[in-house]
Amino acid sequence: MFAGKTILTGVKPTGTPHLGNYLGAIKPAIELGQKAIAQGGKHYMFIADYHAINAEKDPAVLNQKMKEIACIYLAGGLDPKKSYFYRQSDIPEIPEITTILYAYTPKGFMNKAHAYKAAVDKNRAAGKPDDDGINMGLYTYPTLMAADILSYDTDVVPVGKDQVQHVEIARDIAGAINAHYEKELLRLPAYYVDDQVAVVPGIDGRKMSKSYGNVIPLFEDDKAIKKAIFSIKTDSRPMEEPKDPDEILVYEIYKSIATPEQLQEMGDGLRQGRLGYGHIKNMLLDAVINEVSAAREKYNYYMNHYDEVEAMLEEGAARARPAAQAVLKRLKDAVFGR
Ligand code: ADP
Ligand code: TRP
Repeated sequence: MFAGKTILTGVKPTGTPHLGNYLGAIKPAIELGQKAIAQGGKHYMFIADYHAINAEKDPAVLNQKMKEIACIYLAGGLDPKKSYFYRQSDIPEIPEITTILYAYTPKGFMNKAHAYKAAVDKNRAAGKPDDDGINMGLYTYPTLMAADILSYDTDVVPVGKDQVQHVEIARDIAGAINAHYEKELLRLPAYYVDDQVAVVPGIDGRKMSKSYGNVIPLFEDDKAIKKAIFSIKTDSRPMEEPKDPDEILVYEIYKSIATPEQLQEMGDGLRQGRLGYGHIKNMLLDAVINEVSAAREKYNYYMNHYDEVEAMLEEGAARARPAAQAVLKRLKDAVFGR
């Protein structure tokens, strides 16, 4: 399905990724990129640092998050020689293209964008003026995101459901420009939502999320992972009592990481009263450590040798830029009649 296609993924360097982010977003994105490359396509993977400054103003925090996210993708198996792996702020053509897109972006598109609307709703609920604390970066976010996408003649943008509207806005802006100049200046991107990727529950049963404080950490030491797993909610039923695995949170989390055989083993043990909560927590712990330990080692290596990562990002930008330069030239030639 991705044969010969250009796929592009962007990630904001905000928050320290947890197991849910890794299994639900980071790993699938890397695998999808590998699939596209194996089928003769191209994979652009970038860190959206201009997007991050709308909300985060502390340079030390931004720098730390940038490092973490870059190292996590490399640790997860992204190959910077095969994918185009770069920072948004290293591609000056992106803000230039954004400026051109503004002239073709109806203000109404921005008014109805989810991120802006959510911020307004939050202000209203707090009894504040609609635009309180909202900067132009947040307001115009979808136009910059459109430039991220359109700069590389992207065919497919894999996203979570919350980002679908943004890809549609990119498509609409590109369509408006193409219609105006009566030629395909910009490639129309499609979004791709992977329904196979399940939401990983957190240790309290709600969606695992940094905002709920219910996460299983990703690249911390075994002790920290164990502490989180052993605080997963359980009840006081004895081991011998047969249990429906689907009612047990440890089993639900195990689903996102275990092989079918491992899952069967835990399920049978619970149904037959052979496995207690201590057992199944240890099984989950083993699976998590098994999943993350090789990546964690790579992660720690890259964090301690960040100059190597910096060089990869710079090289990635140098490799990616010519495509964005070509799109910018195409646009300027059309817009200014050159
Ligand atoms: P959080 O909810 O911790 O703030 P984000 O909203 O920053 O996480 O999500 C970053 C990415 O990780 C998104 O693509 C999102 O779909 C994915 N993600 C976040 N939490 C989970 C989860 N519990 N299970 C699966 N994917 C998740
Ligand atoms: N808006 C995306 C998010 O919040 C990140 C992002 C920025 C992005 N530019 C993009 C994603 C371009 C895909 C394509 O997760």
